[in-house]
Amino acid sequence: MAISKKKNTPVEKGANTWSGRFDEPVSELVQRYTASIDFDRRLADHDIQGSLAHARMLSDAGIIDANDLAAIESGLGRIRDEIRNGEFVWRLDLEDVHLNIEKRLTTLIGDAGKRLHTARSRNDQVATDVRLYLRASIDDIVRLIRAMQHALLDLAEQHVDTVMPGFTHLQVAQPVVFGHHLMAYFEMLKRDTERLSDCRRRMNKLPLGAAALAGTSYPINREMVAAQLGFDGVCENSLDAVSDRDFAIEFCACAALIMTHLSRLSEELILWMNPLFGFIELADRFCTGSSIMPQKKNPDVPELVRGKTGRVNGHLVALLMLMKAQPLAYNKDNQEDKEPLFDTVDTLTDTLRIYADMLTGVRVKPGAMRQAAMRGYATATDLADYLAKKGLPFREAHEAVAQAVNFADKCGRDLSALTLPELRNFSPLIDNDIFAVLTLEGSINSRNHIGGTAPAQVRAAVSRARKSLS
Ligand code: ARG
Repeated sequence: MAISKKKNTPVEKGANTWSGRFDEPVSELVQRYTASIDFDRRLADHDIQGSLAHARMLSDAGIIDANDLAAIESGLGRIRDEIRNGEFVWRLDLEDVHLNIEKRLTTLIGDAGKRLHTARSRNDQVATDVRLYLRASIDDIVRLIRAMQHALLDLAEQHVDTVMPGFTHLQVAQPVVFGHHLMAYFEMLKRDTERLSDCRRRMNKLPLGAAALAGTSYPINREMVAAQLGFDGVCENSLDAVSDRDFAIEFCACAALIMTHLSRLSEELILWMNPLFGFIELADRFCTGSSIMPQKKNPDVPELVRGKTGRVNGHLVALLMLMKAQPLAYNKDNQEDKEPLFDTVDTLTDTLRIYADMLTGVRVKPGAMRQAAMRGYATATDLADYLAKKGLPFREAHEAVAQAVNFADKCGRDLSALTLPELRNFSPLIDNDIFAVLTLEGSINSRNHIGGTAPAQVRAAVSRARKSLS
């Protein structure tokens, strides 16, 4: 882009004084400090979209004439092309995206360009632009989440029978199937999508018409602008319309949760690919080596997802802090909403994109998972349940099994490797049918209800999930 990063950006004499109201221009430092053009030019397309809708309404309401509208439409069309082709010259002395575009329009079409700003202010303009930008970003993000859900489903479907240890406190707890574990993340992403669409629905109201803060004396038609821009309605209080950034905070909260979910999965991928677990391998394209230790394959991508989650969660806090002491209505503080917001969108978008691909490159090692499930007495609860079902109060069953585990541990054997007489030392209720119960398959198959880890249930969960995506 053509923005000048040079220290002494040539500025037309007087171009950076606001008006006859000012006796001197701002210093170069103040100009740089107050300008947002370096980052808000990403709103250009939405700014033009908003201006076109506003201009059509002005003309429809008889506030500008048809010739002005035609000139504005062709001028803004040309500016859109200039920006897309990288020919547009962004000027720091024109502060932000709105003034840059307006100035260029006036240069191109003269007085008609100067009439565009009738009945609006940059305050309602920027609030509109950000909503349009974020609405489009949410639609992209929802699509990316969906792609990742498909990748999760594909992997889960291949592993409805793959037994692994389920953990609590990161200690072996009970056997589960890998597909069930993956489907937990599907559920998280499903809630994330619901949250985003809820956030989108609340965001989808038009601020334009609020003008600076109090509305405008022109006979505007806000519903017409709203309809053109695809908003479901208008913001119903002008002060709120220009000062509200709830929608940005809500979005960042949604994003923080999504990243938190991806960070948890990343942590698991990192653990699972550690050779001490050895449950999975990640495709090489997501790993890097070490410059000194030739044996290393480091899970850099999941580690960075974990790291970037801190950054995105920080942006949420930044926006909350930005808003917490602002009196109504618009304050320049609000200009600071953009960088955290844009970075949140970029980081989340890249992370989701990378994740869908990374999941397709996960190589699962069922043997290692199974071995790990065999260690750690994962079926101890099944033995306790067996005794309880035979009439022993669960607390007593728990104690009997605790003793059996202690014994097995001392002999270095699994519960299923104890003989019947050995097992009966801990409870005479134990019979030959216990051995089916103590196997990994016996354990997982017994958890056969909705939400349980039985392969039949996981298969059903995958197919319900597929339907919900189609
Ligand atoms: N660049 C400004 C922002 O992002 C636009 C609104 C400026 N309004 C004002 N009254 N100075 O918030």
